[in-house]
Amino acid sequence: MTVSQMPKVELHLHHEGAAPPGFIRGLAAEKKVDLSGIFDESGGYKYKDFWDFLKVYEAATSVLHTPEDFARLTTAVLEESAASGVIYSETFLSPDFCGNRDVGAWREYLAAIREAADAAEAEHGIVLRGIVTCIRHFGPDKARETAKCAAETVGDWIVGFGIAGDEKAGKLKDFEWSFDCAREAGLRLTAHAGEWGGPESVRDALDDLRVERIGHGARAIEDLTLVDRLVKDGIVLEVCPGSNVVLGVYPDWHSHPIHRLRERGVKVTVSTDDPPFFHTTMVNEYNRLADAFEWDEGVFDEIARTSLEAAFCDAQTKAKLLKRLEPS
Ligand code: ADE
Ligand code: ZN
Repeated sequence: MTVSQMPKVELHLHHEGAAPPGFIRGLAAEKKVDLSGIFDESGGYKYKDFWDFLKVYEAATSVLHTPEDFARLTTAVLEESAASGVIYSETFLSPDFCGNRDVGAWREYLAAIREAADAAEAEHGIVLRGIVTCIRHFGPDKARETAKCAAETVGDWIVGFGIAGDEKAGKLKDFEWSFDCAREAGLRLTAHAGEWGGPESVRDALDDLRVERIGHGARAIEDLTLVDRLVKDGIVLEVCPGSNVVLGVYPDWHSHPIHRLRERGVKVTVSTDDPPFFHTTMVNEYNRLADAFEWDEGVFDEIARTSLEAAFCDAQTKAKLLKRLEPS
């Protein structure tokens, strides 16, 4: 089996960020919205840097209006993930984009997304779970409303709570209430840190929000005392190397610290973040990592197992998926 054929577990995927550009263009045409400015000549998403990426992301998301739109998005996203061999995926969902943080509306979006996910599971065998995610640059007040939506829908499908968006906006401490609310409701926690913020942002996520996983976390490598803490506490990093390289956090794949983090004993996992924005897929991530660091099937097998162990789904779901990681 080649690394591209191996079964994969993805923990860090933004639902809207996984929307194929053709899908968003089609919805824009249906709704007669002019989104031509966000696409390049070859039809891909166009942006200048991370902050421009966030604007283009929100512009693309603006054509997703109804629960039915999100159901169609779910079908399109899971088809792509399944084609890369992904058997389990956790996706970031934001009530900000699904019913403007109104709990009743959020429930309707969620029901539509779940129905589409169940159909994709029946067709492709891919299992999806949701992580409710607040958007840092929307501020702590909106995050509180988002956390309440999360707490109202906690269960076997909404399994976690997180924060994404502009890592330079505000302080993570400002979101403590929301994370406490989600934790008390029974949700597992993750936070974007160590992508644009340095090691101190990772420390803030651990100390102020008490998360068990870090979204990205690559820049923890700049402080080896922090790296030792990640190892000791078993903190899992949702590393997205292709995203980091395309957005310029690192100049190329060889410079990415995922290999050094792993060698020091950090639990690293591999994800795509916003795959069409970064011209990547899980197969591409695996192939580029294999080329850059001479990672073989044994390494990827270990990464898939680490990912499944760190997944926020229930034990029964994990046990079923674990069987699919065993060689047949
Ligand atoms: N939202 C979507 N993708 C993101 C990323 N890579 N970092 C922060 N927020 C995001
Ligand atoms: Zn992300």
